[in-house]
Amino acid sequence: MNLTKLIGDDIMSRLKYIMELKDYYGIDLKRINHALKVLSFADRIVDGENITDEKIKKIVYITAILHDIGIKKAEEKYGSSSGRYQEIEGPAIAREIMRKNNEDEGIIERVCYIIGGHHTASKNDGLDFQIIWESDLLVNIEEDELYKDREKVSNIVEKNFKTKTGKNIAGDLFLS
Ligand SMILES: [Fe+2]
Repeated sequence: MNLTKLIGDDIMSRLKYIMELKDYYGIDLKRINHALKVLSFADRIVDGENITDEKIKKIVYITAILHDIGIKKAEEKYGSSSGRYQEIEGPAIAREIMRKNNEDEGIIERVCYIIGGHHTASKNDGLDFQIIWESDLLVNIEEDELYKDREKVSNIVEKNFKTKTGKNIAGDLFLS
């Protein structure tokens, strides 16, 4: 049975990256769950914003899955999981995983750029980046329990959210 034919290229490709993430993080379920939650918000924003460009869609889902891949090495190397170290260590690991999966070089470069800047607002330069920015924030608001401070969440949304879908999700989840 040809699994790719049965479930489609898109789902197969997503599964490959999720499996890579699981191989890399092993038992660290917290990291895997975080990535899957970011992926789920990113998918909702892609759908809600009616994005049809296949390249952008692929960049978004691969980045959502791999965006925090630098954390493990950052912790090992610097004893810190701070965003700056993740940004330094993440792209090379993501690049190796994508090359192994024969990903298009253009996609590899863009995913690595976003991973290398996903904690730095000034590097946010496009809709693909913005979707990751909003999706990661939505998950972090939940995981860090920032939703307990309504005003804080309202400020975060005001300052960081640009897509209508992202704003609606934040409003429904944390401000209604
Ligand atoms: Fe994240």
